Amino acid sequence: GKNMSSDEDVAAASRHTLFIGKKENIIQSRRVVKSVGERDVLVIYHQGDFYAIDVRCYHSGGPLQEGDIEDFDGRTCIVCPWHKYKITLAEGEGLYQAVDPSVKPLKPTWCSKGIKQRVHTVTVSNEDVFLTLNDSPGPIDSDYYQTEKYRNTFLKE
Ligand code: FES
Repeated sequence: GKNMSSDEDVAAASRHTLFIGKKENIIQSRRVVKSVGERDVLVIYHQGDFYAIDVRCYHSGGPLQEGDIEDFDGRTCIVCPWHKYKITLAEGEGLYQAVDPSVKPLKPTWCSKGIKQRVHTVTVSNEDVFLTLNDSPGPIDSDYYQTEKYRNTFLKE
């Protein structure tokens, strides 16, 4: 029926919502990588906001925890240290610059490739920080780098 119980919703949400730390500690460390089930998620505190994003870059699995954070076109991005792809922290969009050759003088403008990196939700309650995994079916490009196959092949010592 229509009123599918909210109990189920709550249960579904809590399955994927985890306490990840004290607000103060995360603000202090600024970046924390958390393994949640099969995912490795980078939690970031930047200029008053929390973000959570799959830690391995959608392009080739680069370590986003080592990326710089910069604004491009007014949007806060993490820049992958491997090939400098720019990913918006809030949405996981891949940004790039393009030039329209018919418009002179040539002027690069920022464009979006759409959502490439899976981002998750951070909730702060009192002094506690929670992470809710984004379980939308996707696939989103970054998902590949969270698979067992990838991890077993490339991340095992
Ligand atoms: Fe991130 Fe290539 S792996 S830009």
